[in-house]
Amino acid sequence: MVLNCLEVEVAGLKFRNPVLLAAGILGMTAESLIRVAEAGAGGLVTKSIGLKPRKGYPNPTVVQVSCGLINAMGLPNPGIKTFSEEIREVKRRVKVPLIVSVYGYSAEEFAETAELAVKAGADAVELNVSCPHVEGTGGEIGQNPELLKEVVSKVKRRISKPIFVKLSPNVTDIAQLAETAVKAGADAITAINTVRAMKIDIKTGRPILANRIGGLSGPAIKPIAVRCIYEIYERVRVPIFGCGGILNWRDAIELILAGASAVQIGTAIAVKDLEVFRTIPKGIEKYIRRKGFRSVKEIVGLSHRL
Ligand SMILES: Cc1cc2nc3c(=O)[nH]c(=O)nc-3n(C[C@H](O)[C@H](O)[C@H](O)COP(=O)(O)O)c2cc1C
Repeated sequence: MVLNCLEVEVAGLKFRNPVLLAAGILGMTAESLIRVAEAGAGGLVTKSIGLKPRKGYPNPTVVQVSCGLINAMGLPNPGIKTFSEEIREVKRRVKVPLIVSVYGYSAEEFAETAELAVKAGADAVELNVSCPHVEGTGGEIGQNPELLKEVVSKVKRRISKPIFVKLSPNVTDIAQLAETAVKAGADAITAINTVRAMKIDIKTGRPILANRIGGLSGPAIKPIAVRCIYEIYERVRVPIFGCGGILNWRDAIELILAGASAVQIGTAIAVKDLEVFRTIPKGIEKYIRRKGFRSVKEIVGLSHRL
């Protein structure tokens, strides 16, 4: 029997390979999520969904810079009641784990939204406590240990599926916040969300994004992601989903060596296309075999042991 060296089990979920879709890119409809699964993704994270529908910000919401994208979408989403139908449809049609990203303006909203997502079929929830550009939620929660603790523990009491907590790099000590999340019941940490950033049009002198400030993603943030994952791995014992700046299999390997049990991909889909869900797992597999390992699990956090 040929062993599948890419299979991983993270927080009780089995993934056929460790390359997942990140929240916010192609994650808003069942059809796009199914396309990503069919392209080869090991798992799917949806767009962040709230209790009620939200329009998001006016355009422009995304701007390309030399080293990535800056976005301030403003969390547009149809609300969990409408989105539940998309969750059911994905679960009917594909077998890969479906993680529903949720956000809220209070611990109660997070818990209610998470509960409805699980009721519709989510295999896990990812708490977005790290969005850098919407007031009253996201980073404002994830940067405050008391609020973070309250949100995670409330969701933990309400659902029996795994909880991933997605952290922001826009903090002084990300490992400390990871520890707070784990103590409150997080089953895994996702790191990182985007880095607060801005672009100004030098012709008009005005900021380009309607919201002025947004979040930087793509290759520019990969070294920040590697550092954050490395620090979190040293501090907590739960698995880490690494995210930030992965364009190819070499980038994915780097995040895994820093401590990620699996990785998530966002901007690379816009820069390249869905091919990344075939080429990145394939590149990881070749690397594993060439180095004489039997499984990707053997290299998780390896850089800490060398
Ligand atoms: C257009 C866009 C929308 C995003 N929306 C979300 C979101 O709804 N929830 C979330 O947790 N992260 C969101 N993110 C952040 C990504 O999931 C990811 O953490 C970040 O982009 C870094 O990974 P990347 O460099 O591979 O894109 C978004 C990113 C982009 C570029």
